Amino acid sequence: MKAQTLKQQAGEYAAQFVESGMVIGLGTGSTAIFATRRIARRIHGGELRDVIAIPTSLATEADARELGIPLSTLERHPRIDLTIDGADEVDPDFNLIKGGGGALLREKIVAQATERLIIVVDASKLSQQLGANWAVPVEVFPFGWHSQAGFLRDLGAGVVLRKSGADPFQTDQGNIILDCDFGSIADPAGLSQSLKSRAGIAEHGLFIGLARDVIVAGTDGIRHLRK
Ligand code: A5P
Repeated sequence: MKAQTLKQQAGEYAAQFVESGMVIGLGTGSTAIFATRRIARRIHGGELRDVIAIPTSLATEADARELGIPLSTLERHPRIDLTIDGADEVDPDFNLIKGGGGALLREKIVAQATERLIIVVDASKLSQQLGANWAVPVEVFPFGWHSQAGFLRDLGAGVVLRKSGADPFQTDQGNIILDCDFGSIADPAGLSQSLKSRAGIAEHGLFIGLARDVIVAGTDGIRHLRK
């Protein structure tokens, strides 16, 4: 089965957990979009009422607007009932690497404001130890970024400046992303703390202890893992 089909299955499955009256977070990426589309269909079909959505990126905001999903902001709705988002890597404790699409800062803000974070992935995203398959995206302020790159190298990472064509990739906040290959990460919570201690690092893609459910679509069907 194609990865795209699996992403669709996971995303659409998760959309069933949205209920009328909820404030929901809309994730970013090629898996979360299937949940967003299904939610839109449920709203327009009359199955869901009074749902208000907070997007995790400008791209998701544009998609949701086009799909006619009622939108709001975190300022007006600081508590979110349910968020459905994708991930790049998921470990057995539901710790995550996110940020492949560059939206990690808003995604983490939304995740931390969320009661129930549901992660939707195809089975290729599961790993025994974070970092085995994916570099950790680190969003840094452009000011002095070479100094942050040096700090990250000192922590043991191979550091690559993310590009968009010939230019540095720019996040929704106007920052840049350093993709940091740490190899397998034995202590993701410890690394998360080290990364947060450095001025100039706006946020990083390690999501520790935030996900409550993981929906995994594989060739053998859909698995719903819960905490
Ligand atoms: C966006 O910045 C990311 O965190 C995505 O949620 C993550 O990269 C998963 O994306 P896909 O579902 O497109 O693989």
